[in-house]
Amino acid sequence: MSNQQILKNTNAQLLDQFNASIMFDKELYKQDIQGSIAHSKMLALQEIITIEDQVKIEAGLLRIKSEIEAGDFEWKIEHEDVHMAIESKLTEYIGDAAGRLHTARSRNDQVATDFTLYVQDKSLTLKDKLKVLVNTLVNIAEKHTETLIPGMTHLQHAQPINFGYHLLAYANMFKRDFERFESSYIRNNNCPLGSAALAGTPHNIDRFKTAEFLGFDSPTQSALDTSSNRDFALEILFNISTTVMHISRLSEELILWSSYEFGFVKMSDEYATTSSIMPQKKNPDVPELLRGKTGRVYGNLISLLTVMKGLPLAYNKDTQEDKEGVFDSVQTCEISLDIVTAVMDTLIINVDKMEKACKVGHLSATDLADYLVQKANLPFRKAYYITKDVVATANKLNKDMSELTIEEIRSSNEEIKNIDNEILSYLDLRNSMNARTSFGGTSTQRTKEQISYFKDWL
Ligand code: ARG
Repeated sequence: MSNQQILKNTNAQLLDQFNASIMFDKELYKQDIQGSIAHSKMLALQEIITIEDQVKIEAGLLRIKSEIEAGDFEWKIEHEDVHMAIESKLTEYIGDAAGRLHTARSRNDQVATDFTLYVQDKSLTLKDKLKVLVNTLVNIAEKHTETLIPGMTHLQHAQPINFGYHLLAYANMFKRDFERFESSYIRNNNCPLGSAALAGTPHNIDRFKTAEFLGFDSPTQSALDTSSNRDFALEILFNISTTVMHISRLSEELILWSSYEFGFVKMSDEYATTSSIMPQKKNPDVPELLRGKTGRVYGNLISLLTVMKGLPLAYNKDTQEDKEGVFDSVQTCEISLDIVTAVMDTLIINVDKMEKACKVGHLSATDLADYLVQKANLPFRKAYYITKDVVATANKLNKDMSELTIEEIRSSNEEIKNIDNEILSYLDLRNSMNARTSFGGTSTQRTKEQISYFKDWL
């Protein structure tokens, strides 16, 4: 072979590889076969193909499906993609009838259908997993509606809250994630098939039938829009990004809480790893990985947004770049949800440490200011400055505000030199937590109400 010949062959191989998507879109074999069976049934009903051919097509496709599932199907790069691979096998099995299957469709609406079916199916799986996670959080919360933990802003001690209430904040995030997957599912439950290449088809097809066979609510409106629409894929990428962002925030807290400085929780041994050099260490690798996974998931979203931004109507091969990122994000989200649920489920909670931490930082300071507003009718700003003086007294005495005697409080500022003894109970940390009874507040009673709200929802 001449050098030129070798170069030409190599180039051809290289191009096949470059052009092909079969290495990754074979993931869609199930949806491809499901879509083809539905399409063939519709074609037969509309008398575009014969019943005999439809029966042959369906049987052939099911045979191919079992071969794929048994690992007996050879995926070849020269077939380019999952659609061509299955069609060429079908031709091998049933001959001419296979050639009738592609009537009134193109690979453009075919791939859009397969991919939509995949995304819809995965949205349901992810919703289920989110529910399991919310359930886990609610169960832990139920046991800790009276466990005090410092509520923070700017990662600084702010006000006492209960640990159950803290976890329910995450339950709220994950419930919203659930709802996002749900609303995307509803919005995108339309069937692309029958849009054909870009403009519809002259064949007398019934797209409503195809949609019905595949469990869609209706066919998509515009063939032209359909053949290059990937909003459904972008939506799942965004929904997953938000979900893993929430998982990452929770992971960040687990990492902090399991550090020596906090000591609020301990990860069960299965979910903590040891250091290869420091034998005494237990590392929170698992939540760190959960936090780290967000990077690639956000990347997948940005990557598809970028692929789509310059595409003229209608189909362009660029969109073949839509799949790997979605597969990766889906897989990452599935495993992350399973893992974070397991971590939470086995978390060892150190109530003493949490409650002890509440005695640092004058968490009930706001309660004094609120008391002065309510009982002495002072403007809040004035009450705020008086409270500041009491904080200064506490600091001087090296005490938490909740530990001051009535004399120490009275001596802090002229204006409160006669303040009633009852203030002491207002400054008590548990009373402070329980005083926040406004809707959505942290009091044990309100927390229990939230728990029953979630139980109803679950
Ligand atoms: N493998 C292609 C993809 O994933 C299928 C659609 C190809 N259509 C075409 N007209 N070349 O996008």
